[in-house]
Amino acid sequence: MRAQDVTLKPGGHAIFMVLGLNRPDEIEPVKAICSELPALVRSLKGRFPKQEASCVMGFGSSAWDHLFPKRKKPSELSTFVEIKGEKHTAPSTPGDLFFHIRASKMDIAYELAAIITYILGDSVYSIDEVHGFRYFDGRAIIGFVDGTENPEFDEDRHAAAVIGDKEPDFEGGSYAFVQKYIHNMNEWNNLPTFEQEKAIGRRKFDDRELSDDIKPENAHNAVTNIEDEAGNEIKIVRANMPFAVPSQGEHGTYFIGYASTFSATRKMLENMFIGEPIGNYDRLLDFSTAKTGTLFFIPSVELLEELAE
Ligand code: HEM
Repeated sequence: MRAQDVTLKPGGHAIFMVLGLNRPDEIEPVKAICSELPALVRSLKGRFPKQEASCVMGFGSSAWDHLFPKRKKPSELSTFVEIKGEKHTAPSTPGDLFFHIRASKMDIAYELAAIITYILGDSVYSIDEVHGFRYFDGRAIIGFVDGTENPEFDEDRHAAAVIGDKEPDFEGGSYAFVQKYIHNMNEWNNLPTFEQEKAIGRRKFDDRELSDDIKPENAHNAVTNIEDEAGNEIKIVRANMPFAVPSQGEHGTYFIGYASTFSATRKMLENMFIGEPIGNYDRLLDFSTAKTGTLFFIPSVELLEELAE
């Protein structure tokens, strides 16, 4: 089974579209997009070989129930249950269809988004749309390089992001969790650089990891570093993008994590929002508010073709 483009690097530009279905039981428009999407992307890749066009498509839990009532459901696909810590909350927000469009240039990303929404027409409404951009050398909008500890090699990225033979009916699929964060940039920028570095767990200028003796337990890269029972690190593939509307004071991070099991991403979120031990929540959250939170299942290429039939 072939996975959709879930293991790609974040890219130069991204459009994240979360859509709702106006008539949840109407399958035809969804079939149309499942059937046309691969050719649309292929065409743009062929016509603009350097622009690295790609699009990942996914389904929310209730959309899956309505659209494919007779099909088996991916084992971990359910509506995200909010995580409420002492101080910060990861809310759960709705979403039926999801598109993660990537390209080196914005016009190509726009072209895909425009055609997708044209095909879906009035069968959908927009719940959220975010346009992300690569910032300098791959930094989050808060100034730190983002993505360094992602799995590096293709096979490791695949193992982290793509469902394997543990869930044979959905092999080649992936669980995508998205979260839109807004940062309090005034407060963040007023922090001395070393305090910011302690919140992230890495140096700001050269991206070096802080040594264990100075890295606080509530540093972002400490709480999100999780292990299985045998002590092996559990990884997911992140493709976060910065976004901003500066004149409106909006500066954000669109978090997206692709995982072979959603429980890995959820554990990271629990560590961030609740803390392990309880109360050791992620210092980054004192400057970042999660506005959305939605889980999607990303079918394999073959399953997407099947859904179009
Ligand atoms: C406010 C939104 C977020 C920002 C700005 C952000 C930024 C960063 C940065 C700058 C790093 C260090 C460089 C790197 O290794 O990538 C990092 C690491 C990491 N982040 Fe985030 N992140 C955010 C949210 C999340 C969320 C929601 C999760 C998981 C659900 C997550 C999971 C991770 C993981 C697994 C690492 C690597 C930890 C390690 O070193 O082992 N991040 N993030």
